[in-house]
Amino acid sequence: MATAQRPAAAASGAVPRRGLHHKLGFTTATRFWLFVLFATPMIYFSVRRLDYIDIDSAFCGGPNHAIQGECYWYSQPGMDRMGMMLHLGAILPAGILACVQFVPAVRRRFIALHMINGYIVVTLSVLGTIGVLMFTPHAMGGSRMTQAISVLVCTMFLVALFKAQLGIKRGRIDQHRAWMLRAWFYAGAIITMRPILILVAWLSSKTPTYDAFPCKVVEYILSGDQAELLARFPSCARYVSGEDLEEWTVVKANFPVGDDVGSAAALRIGFAVGGALAIAIHAIGIEAYLHATAAENERLKKISVHKRAATGRAKSQTGSKDTKASPSVPSPRSEKGQNDQGGSAVLF
Ligand code: HEM
Repeated sequence: MATAQRPAAAASGAVPRRGLHHKLGFTTATRFWLFVLFATPMIYFSVRRLDYIDIDSAFCGGPNHAIQGECYWYSQPGMDRMGMMLHLGAILPAGILACVQFVPAVRRRFIALHMINGYIVVTLSVLGTIGVLMFTPHAMGGSRMTQAISVLVCTMFLVALFKAQLGIKRGRIDQHRAWMLRAWFYAGAIITMRPILILVAWLSSKTPTYDAFPCKVVEYILSGDQAELLARFPSCARYVSGEDLEEWTVVKANFPVGDDVGSAAALRIGFAVGGALAIAIHAIGIEAYLHATAAENERLKKISVHKRAATGRAKSQTGSKDTKASPSVPSPRSEKGQNDQGGSAVLF
């Protein structure tokens, strides 16, 4: 029976729709697999770390805790702790919810869900980014390089989100798509940087490489063992004696051989290098992706122009800003048929 139906469908010009990718609204399997490739790491990473939101027991206390020494700042009340709570509490749900926005079937069939979820994601993203800026002065050692990378990624993320919102307010679906993709590719750099960070940490430990630490942070990593602190870092003598509580020392990178202080130094060095490389890879990568999908951009541009022209006609007919009553404005349902080929035009 099924084989008998196929030629009939082909003869009528209808494309038989099968498979998960069609159900989710992706026009081609390639687009579906690209979505899977980019969204899965973000969802997996965010879900795996949801328990970190409970800073004291998971992020600072659990078996997969933060990098050694970081919780010196996050476990005591202050700006760093508040910032980290805000960052994790907002950005992890945002990372999961953002992926839903890129599923064409959601945009096409549940436009209200796309809009509501979109506002939630943007709000959480902004809050999460504010959180980063709050803990940036001390995060991963707080070197100028580390601060610059964090501020750069935050700025790129926020600007892209802003441009995406601006695009949709102006009725430019093509711009909205491009800038939302950019925003989340930039944010995704935070995941790509991790394998690079570990590689750099390992390589840095092969040759003499050093990082500077406040003695109080080294003492924290050594669980308050002042005898070990003095034995391994004699330059912390004035800190131990109480003469200079802001004394710093130099730590040799040593990863991953069970030396917590050396590991922390190596991973901090890796963070700055990994962050810089990852954001460069993602910034170039998304431009290449947008270039490769330029046809989709053109298609959305045409739909945007058509929509705006229709809206303009409706306004001139009614003489008011309310376009809902006008028969000239295509309803989401009538646009649905028009957009079935690419799936992302029924946005707002
Ligand atoms: C938008 C730009 C972002 C920047 C600049 C940024 C920056 C940072 C920094 C510097 C830390 C390290 C804090 C420390 O250990 O001292 C951190 C931690 C963390 N961030 Fe972000 N982040 C961003 C986005 C994201 C996104 C999109 C997610 C996930 C959806 C995320 C999830 C996490 C998690 C789970 C941690 C806890 C530590 C860890 O697992 O390594 N961040 N972030």
